[in-house]
Amino acid sequence: MEYEKVIEQAFLAMGNAYAPYSNYHVGAAVETFDGRYFLGANIENASYGATVCGERSAIFNAYSNGVRKNDIKAIAIVSDGKRLGSPCGICRQVLSELLKGDTPIVLSNGKDSRITTIDEILPDSFSSEDLQ
Ligand code: THU
Repeated sequence: MEYEKVIEQAFLAMGNAYAPYSNYHVGAAVETFDGRYFLGANIENASYGATVCGERSAIFNAYSNGVRKNDIKAIAIVSDGKRLGSPCGICRQVLSELLKGDTPIVLSNGKDSRITTIDEILPDSFSSEDLQ
């Protein structure tokens, strides 16, 4: 299927997760229209609030390398959870600013999968327009 490669890259990234506290591993991959992949994984900390989620790691990696929302074809977010995961509230807020509203967000746990968008999972979000 169309998103096979980006999902595969996200699972590759999941292998780099550092999750000694939750033992819940997340990987993510941002695919650009010009065929590049920017990976991220969840990185935990003994001071739990300092943890960064997998999808934020990946999107920050992409932006740090000069990618912007119009360059992004899709993002895949995968986990090793029994249940199909879905981005946390903080990640939804970040993705709502750094992705276009209709960019495919592909979720998978290797068993189930789903394609959604940030417009679907975070409607009515706070944004830069509120700061005008
Ligand atoms: N986590 C993510 O990486 N993405 C999410 O959207 C949900 C939670 C991580 C954070 C923490 O390392 C572990 O999963 C358990 O919350």
